[in-house]
Amino acid sequence: MSRVRVASEMRPWPTGPTGLPRLLRGSREEAVSFAAHLDTYGPSGVAGSRDLLAAIGEAGVRGRGGAGFPTVTKMQAVARGRGPKVIVANGCEGEPASAKDRTLMRESPHLVLDGIAMAANAVGAEKAFVAVERTRPASAEALGAAIDDRARFGEDPLPIQVVSVPGRYVAGEESALVHWINGGDAKPTTVPPRPFERGVGGRPTLVQNVETLAHVALIGRFGPEWFRTLGSDDEPGSALVTAAGAVARPGVCEIAIGTRVGDLFDAAGGPESELGAVLVGGYFGTWVPIADALDVQLSNAALRSVGASLGCGVVAALPLSACPLAETARVLRYLAEETAGQCGPCVFGLASVAEDMSALARGDAGRTIVEDLQRRSRVISRRGACHHPDGAIRFLRSALGAFPEEIGLHQHGRCRATSAKPILPIPHGPARELAWR
Ligand SMILES: Cc1cc2nc3c(=O)[nH]c(=O)nc-3n(C[C@H](O)[C@H](O)[C@H](O)COP(=O)(O)O)c2cc1C
Ligand code: SF4
Repeated sequence: MSRVRVASEMRPWPTGPTGLPRLLRGSREEAVSFAAHLDTYGPSGVAGSRDLLAAIGEAGVRGRGGAGFPTVTKMQAVARGRGPKVIVANGCEGEPASAKDRTLMRESPHLVLDGIAMAANAVGAEKAFVAVERTRPASAEALGAAIDDRARFGEDPLPIQVVSVPGRYVAGEESALVHWINGGDAKPTTVPPRPFERGVGGRPTLVQNVETLAHVALIGRFGPEWFRTLGSDDEPGSALVTAAGAVARPGVCEIAIGTRVGDLFDAAGGPESELGAVLVGGYFGTWVPIADALDVQLSNAALRSVGASLGCGVVAALPLSACPLAETARVLRYLAEETAGQCGPCVFGLASVAEDMSALARGDAGRTIVEDLQRRSRVISRRGACHHPDGAIRFLRSALGAFPEEIGLHQHGRCRATSAKPILPIPHGPARELAWR
């Protein structure tokens, strides 16, 4: 508290917008101009570097790319590094069911660029990149137009380059991203050194999700106390989440952290039919049976009670008419196909669990299938160079825990599902064609 008061005494924080939305406030169908952005949020650059790090620490913002790591800790580690630093804004959004980062980049690109400029000021960076999947030209175009627009105002002396990255799930992993920008394959590299130690061009590199940087842009403008007016003491602020699956209006919603899942679904037009379960946190996430799901709050503290976490912010509604085991099998097959093909436990292990799960979904798995899957998952966990296999195994284990009845029915060749229509999106590859009932 005291450190922020120092910043406040030096210059009072302007009053920030009340309520929601925060990040998507200037949001329109097409990207906003820099002038319109300034009309909405006012000028940036309130906090100097020391003040900004203090404010970010006080705000308690955590990364929105999946792991929820405290942003200030990473920024301080990069700031302590030697020589000029590099910023990489991670807008890859490899998670197929997520649309939050592309929506933010398309509709509020200036907020992302403000966040990059402020973070660069805080850690001492001289260069920045924004990484966008090459299958999403609209995001890259919006960012490119915003960079050009700002140049006319003499904004951003920092060079910011938009880089397009292969549309693969692992390409957004931070070491893969750094390797790609350095001219290598978009595949995770062994760590250490981690990007914050030696990243792009061998420089200490801050890799931060684009949404995290947009929050930084607002904390730098309006201060930590404003940021904390939404959310809880431990998990303050707002978050962009994607309501997916069987809701009337699937899409991106900005919520106060702690919003009930049921309220998110209401904001997304309500469930389209009776629901059986909810997937929270995307394809590295957790299935929550419907009896526990609708009242749970979207914060990591509350989600822990049902074994879940917010992850990348995907909240997908599974209708009772769909088969949760078929959905799980399809996603596991996709994740197995998306490995970078570098580590045995990941490559062979994920292929085996995907095959076993497919057999269970088809109804021709043996009686020991659950024990077999659990044994395999123990062998795979924590054995890869990156967290890809750990995320896939977490998803698998949650299915084994959430759907005991369905597993029992499938072992006797029966399934309660009435529809084979896939609910969870698979962007490419053979898993896209799979369907069972
Ligand atoms: C397999 C894999 C894929 C990932 N894909 C993304 C991604 O598409 N976008 C993203 O922001 N973070 C992704 N991450 C997390 C990044 O490695 C990194 O932690 C994140 O960009 C840091 O930003 P944050 O601290 O602001 O959340 C991925 C991690 C793994 C293990
Ligand atoms: S753990 Fe899997 S995805 Fe990660 S680097 Fe190894 S093979 Fe690639």
